[in-house]
Amino acid sequence: MKSISELEPTMLTIFGGDGDLTWRKLIPALYNLFVDGFLPEKFKILSVDMKDISQKDYNKRHYEGVNKFSRRGKADKKQWSKFEQHIVYVKADITNDKSYDDLNKIYNETDKEWDEDASRIFYMAVSPHFIKEIASHLGKAGIAGNCDKHRIVVEKPFGHDLKSAQDLNNVLQGIFSENQIYRIDHYLGKETVQNILAFRFANALFEPVWNRNFIEQIQINVSEQVGVENRASYYEHAGAVRDMIQNHILQLICLIGMEPPVDLGADNVRDKKLEVLHAIRRFSEDKVYKNVVRGQYGKGWIKGDEVKAYHDEEKVGKESLTETFAAARFYIDNWRWQGVPIYVRTGKRLQEKTSYISIQFKEVPHKIFPSGVRQLLHPNLMVFSIQPQMGIRIHFQAKKTGLDMRLKPVDMIFNYSDSYRNDPPDAYETLLNDVMLGDATLFMRSDQIEESWRIIMPILDAWVNNPPQKFPNYQSGSWGPPEADALIAHDGFFWHNFTQPLEIVSEAMLGAKNK
Ligand code: BG6
Repeated sequence: MKSISELEPTMLTIFGGDGDLTWRKLIPALYNLFVDGFLPEKFKILSVDMKDISQKDYNKRHYEGVNKFSRRGKADKKQWSKFEQHIVYVKADITNDKSYDDLNKIYNETDKEWDEDASRIFYMAVSPHFIKEIASHLGKAGIAGNCDKHRIVVEKPFGHDLKSAQDLNNVLQGIFSENQIYRIDHYLGKETVQNILAFRFANALFEPVWNRNFIEQIQINVSEQVGVENRASYYEHAGAVRDMIQNHILQLICLIGMEPPVDLGADNVRDKKLEVLHAIRRFSEDKVYKNVVRGQYGKGWIKGDEVKAYHDEEKVGKESLTETFAAARFYIDNWRWQGVPIYVRTGKRLQEKTSYISIQFKEVPHKIFPSGVRQLLHPNLMVFSIQPQMGIRIHFQAKKTGLDMRLKPVDMIFNYSDSYRNDPPDAYETLLNDVMLGDATLFMRSDQIEESWRIIMPILDAWVNNPPQKFPNYQSGSWGPPEADALIAHDGFFWHNFTQPLEIVSEAMLGAKNK
């Protein structure tokens, strides 16, 4: 792993340079890296797009983007005017050979001007169907062949199914070596997600209880209040399982479930995560119906506003069978996790935007407290709050003050906002910085991508064979369809439904079995 002081002169070429991702995420992240001094002095952003706009208009539009989306709020004018000097807008047709010759000229001239061969990063901020084409052009033009200095960054979705993911891997690996390919899963760049590794492997306290002997169940919730927004043309072909479970949620399971790696070397970490993916139990078709629930939102209310049903959204057909919600019960079949259910739930237009992982521990083996006191015995819980609240909470029993022995659950809370003064970087800042440093630890390797698809394919196949009978099946503003409650209630548990995971737990949040 390299350090920031070792950043080399870099040319970052963004294909889709005036697209939504660049506007909302990439330029704001690069601006923040610049302000924090995390960009090399010799740095150029080549924003490649088809649009006929001047450099001035491009800069103006992206200045507004930074004002709108940067975690710092409005851009500092002086900083921005220094930063924008690093941006070059290149109008080009990415399907045409000549565009790559033109880019090559810029690379060569810049190398000459800087008097050294700069690193080249090719960022694919384009629709997935362009990736193969751009990669092939890069290969043909011979401008991406240096294994140490040239990298390609590929956004999700990585394939639409196992076969298309394998095809894309084959094409990319025919042009680049695996260590040049950075497949992004932006969840891995989130501070709180990276902190799972620190929490588990930088503390001696928790690892001894991190297994089936002490843990009863795990819940992963990634719920959103937004609907499909303006992304129906993508989402209609994706759905919640492809959009969230195949990538973000399986990666969270890996971080919670993996064995300790020998160090943080990219392949050591990724090998351990791959072992978890290998061990996740596969569903036969009949098991899919028992372990996975799908849903689609109907109309309802979000934050006091009435919102449309999914099938009334723009570019969505009335008969759409796309799931906007999925809940599942997974198992990791290995020595550490045998028999511990991992419940995952994700969806759009749910009651709260909140992502958390809660680890529920087993009850004490023998209860010494009188029965009236025991009624209040909650199981221990550990909650990783990923967003919007950021922190970790440990929920345990203590004696209530007073003359008699009565128990009261209390919480120990680590809250980022109380513990750290500076704002955490956005996930894209972390990930762009890692690409520049050549550190692939937080990126997906080809075998991880393919193994994730192998887990998900039986679900997708079973659902195609058996279309949903009654969509929509949950109201916007609810926690999803009743079948998702039934899935977990079947095992004697309840969804924790933490709206504010760092607040004190109320009894209602814990299942009847646990009271
Ligand atoms: C993206 C999905 O990967 O993650 C979106 O395509 C989803 O549908 C988004 O809204 C959620 O990301 P975050 O960072 O807001 O939790």
